[in-house]
Amino acid sequence: MRKPIIVGNWKMYKNSEEARKLVEELIPLVKDATSDIVVCVPFPLLHVVQPLIKGTNITLGAQNVSWEDEGALTGEVSAKMLKDFDVKYVIVGHSERKRVFGEKCREIGMRAVQAVKNGITPIVCVGETLERRNRDAKSYIKIQLLEVLEDIEDISKVVIAYEPVWAINGIKPATKEQAEEMCAFIREVIKEKYCEEAADVVRIQYGGSVNSSNFADFMAMDSIDGGLIGRACLDAKEFSKIINYQDK
Ligand code: 13P
Repeated sequence: MRKPIIVGNWKMYKNSEEARKLVEELIPLVKDATSDIVVCVPFPLLHVVQPLIKGTNITLGAQNVSWEDEGALTGEVSAKMLKDFDVKYVIVGHSERKRVFGEKCREIGMRAVQAVKNGITPIVCVGETLERRNRDAKSYIKIQLLEVLEDIEDISKVVIAYEPVWAINGIKPATKEQAEEMCAFIREVIKEKYCEEAADVVRIQYGGSVNSSNFADFMAMDSIDGGLIGRACLDAKEFSKIINYQDK
């Protein structure tokens, strides 16, 4: 069975002091959790959070990684730099990176490859806009996936996050049926590109307006193996309730 993976994406929130408070409050609240727990923090907070979570069941993640080993690439951060902080996961291709910073699927695929090459698990995000939702959502998701995964040989080294753009940072998440339908479709695409076994092991998360009231419903669906959480991970109590969703 696939182990659930619950990831908090801090986006561009928290300074050092706020980060320390959040993590110190979170650690005891989630110590008995049975899922993998990851916090993807802004780069300048890696050195703050790393020592705090050492020896706990919380793992460190980042929010992007360069596609190059090193070079004259102002503003980019390499996988080697992330490894210095014991980063184990990195989000690539978040819809905010695509929408605001113009990142394209081929480049996102190169970022994912670079992560895998360095032993870091990329969390590859895919999702459709509302306009696409009403048009050709599935074929659009398939194109995104195949482009991003083009050079990924071992899909078990990747986590996929389905984040419909229309559900992120909004008031309403996708319904559990909508999320399940797309996550199951993503698994089909993985089966076609790789094989049945690969499709069985790859972990697929849902993200978009997840909170402690709706998360258990998503987790009850067959194809959903975890969540990528934005706003609700910024409060330790709320995030811990999501992580401990089985206690509900
Ligand atoms: P919200 O949970 O705030 O909707 O954000 C989701 C997200 O973008 C996580 O990466």
